[in-house]
Order: sequence, then C-alpha cells, then structure tokens
Amino acid sequence: MEEQAKKTIFSGIQPSGSLTIGNYIGALRNFALLQDDYNCLYCVVDMHAITVRQEPAVLRRRCLEVAATYIACGLDPKKNIIYCQSHVSGHAELMWILNCFTYMGELSRMTQYKDKCAKHADNINAGLFTYPSLMAADILLYQADLVPIGIDQRQHLELTRDIAQRFNGVYGDVFTIPEAYLGKVGSKVMSLQDPTRKMSKSDPEECYIAILDDPDAIRRKLKRAVTDSDGEIRFDPEGKPGVSNLLSIIAALSGETIEKTVEGLQGQGYGALKERATECVLETLTPIQAEHKRLMADKAYLQGILADNAERANAIALKTLRKVQRKVGFAERVKK
Ligand code: TYM
Repeated sequence: MEEQAKKTIFSGIQPSGSLTIGNYIGALRNFALLQDDYNCLYCVVDMHAITVRQEPAVLRRRCLEVAATYIACGLDPKKNIIYCQSHVSGHAELMWILNCFTYMGELSRMTQYKDKCAKHADNINAGLFTYPSLMAADILLYQADLVPIGIDQRQHLELTRDIAQRFNGVYGDVFTIPEAYLGKVGSKVMSLQDPTRKMSKSDPEECYIAILDDPDAIRRKLKRAVTDSDGEIRFDPEGKPGVSNLLSIIAALSGETIEKTVEGLQGQGYGALKERATECVLETLTPIQAEHKRLMADKAYLQGILADNAERANAIALKTLRKVQRKVGFAERVKK
C-alpha cells in the first residue's frame, strides 16, 4: 500500500510499572497485527506516568524497557514510529489548547480519574485530572484514524472524539475523528486473584503476569489463579469470571476462538485449563523475553531509535500544531 494512502494509527503505553499480559493481549498484540496496513506511531507515554510519583532513575529505565518491549513484540522500528512522548514538545503544547476546550464536568466523570484518586489520595494533582486532555492531544496531534486500546481506555477515547468534534465545530475540519480498535477477545484481561477486576500493573504481584516474568513465576501464578467450585469449563464471564478469563487468555494467545478453546478442554478439569493457559503464555512470552534481553543489552541502539523516531514524530506533530495555533489566533511566527 502507498504510504500516502495509508491511514494513521496512534497508541501509547505508560512506563509506570511492569507491563502485563493484559497490556500485551489488549494492546501490544494488536499493534503488531496492524503495522503493515497503517502508518503507525507507538509512544512511550512518560508524561502520563508522572501523574503518580515515580522514581526518576526507574522511570528512565522503564522508558527504554517499554520501547524494547514494543520491538520485542514484533514492531519494526523502521516501519513504526516508536518514541517517547516527552521528546516531542507538541504533545504538551496541544494539550494546553485542548484543555481550553474540555469541561471540568467531563474530566470529573472519568472512571480512571476516580480510581486513581482513590488509590493515591495523598496526591490528587491537576495532572491526574487533565490526563485525558493530554491523551486527546497525543491522538489528535497525528490526525490518527484508529487507536488500538483495551476497554479501560474507551472512555478516554470517547472524550477525545468529543473534544475534536467541539474544536472542529468552531474552527472547521482541523482534526480527524479517531475510532477505537478493540480486539475480538481479550480487550479486558482480568486479575488472576479477583477476576471481577481488570488485571493491572499497580496491583499486588500475584494478580498479574508480567511480560518479563520468569517461567516459574508464570506457572505459580496461573496455578493459583482464582476459579470457582463447580468444576465445569464453560465461557460465562458473569457467572464464571475466573474460568472465562483463563479461556480468553488462551483464545487470545493461541488465535483459536473461545468455542474451539472450550471444545478442546471438554471433559477435563481446571488443572488442565491452567496447564493449557501456562503453555500458551510461555510459548508467547519466551521469544519476547529473549529479544527484550538482547535489546536492553544495547541501550545505545535503543536510544538511537528513540532519537530518530522522535524527529519523525515531531515533523508530523508540528504540521497539526501550527495549524491549530493559527486557527485559535496565536500571533504569526514571522521569519527574520
Ligand atoms: P496503560 O499504560 O494503562 O495501558 C496500555 C494499554 O494496555 C491496555 N490494557 C489492557 N487491555 C486489556 N486488559 C487489561 N487488563 C489491560 N490493562 C491495560 C490499555 O487499555 C491500553 O491500551 N492512557 C493510556 C495510555 C495512553 C494512550 C494514549 C493510549 C496515553 N495516550 C493515546 C492510546 C492513545 C494508559 O494509561 O494505558
């Protein structure tokens, strides 16, 4: 497909903890599937990460780790623009303008904001509140058509669309209105210990499988995953959340449908279900971990990729930013 004719994808992941198989199944896996048919930008959203306190040295390392994870999961850094959010100042500049088109009422309805306020009651900062305007800026800066995300980010994407439409309503067609891309299975991977809640990197260790977990940890965590007491393998997310979560993980990683997965396990117990899940997770993560390790051993290479790609991203971002600045009436930049 011609580069020009291709549509644009933007997505991002926060470098705020160990990435989980929730991040992989809900987002990363789809990034790799889409890379040939779209112009893709995959961002390490470090500016979002500081809405909760981070240890600087750890955050710096995690930024490289997320970039390495993108590549280890199959994203070609020549084809895709893999970069750090803080390296392209247009994100912050557009965010300010979009903040002026976003209502307090809209921001205060965001469930992620409410959750984070509950979790970090001692640090309810303005960044936590205006986080969705920054996410809107990320997406709109590149005129993205499609945004691959897990279900938990859908509300933020809806708000992005509302902000874009509001802006376009005043100034004409400035922004492309983005659509969410959700995978058929696995757009909400649940906690292994409380399968009625989303698997999250900020929960205790036993609740999630990290992409970089060693095989023993993976075996142990899946063995201890909460199921139920009726012993039947059936897909019923409401009635059997633990079993259904394991079935979704298997289906997402093996590429089989949920029906086929259930069929394959008919007449067997939860031990076999957990074995199958362990097999699929190990099969997926082992090559990713090996590649990740190789990449992390060459920091200069990773830093070089981030630097080149930030330049490519910046060139695209500036086009939108200058247009938006002109539209809202900022003073012209005259060359001397
Ligand atoms: P973050 O860093 O929390 O998660 C990154 C991606 O992983 C998905 N995800 C999940 N999917 C399925 N099951 C789960 N348990 C699970 N946990 C996480 C998320 O939905 C997300 O797609 N605000 C975003 C980052 C962001 C962004 C953006 C995304 C900033 N700007 C612009 C898209 C476009 C976030 O906190 O994701």
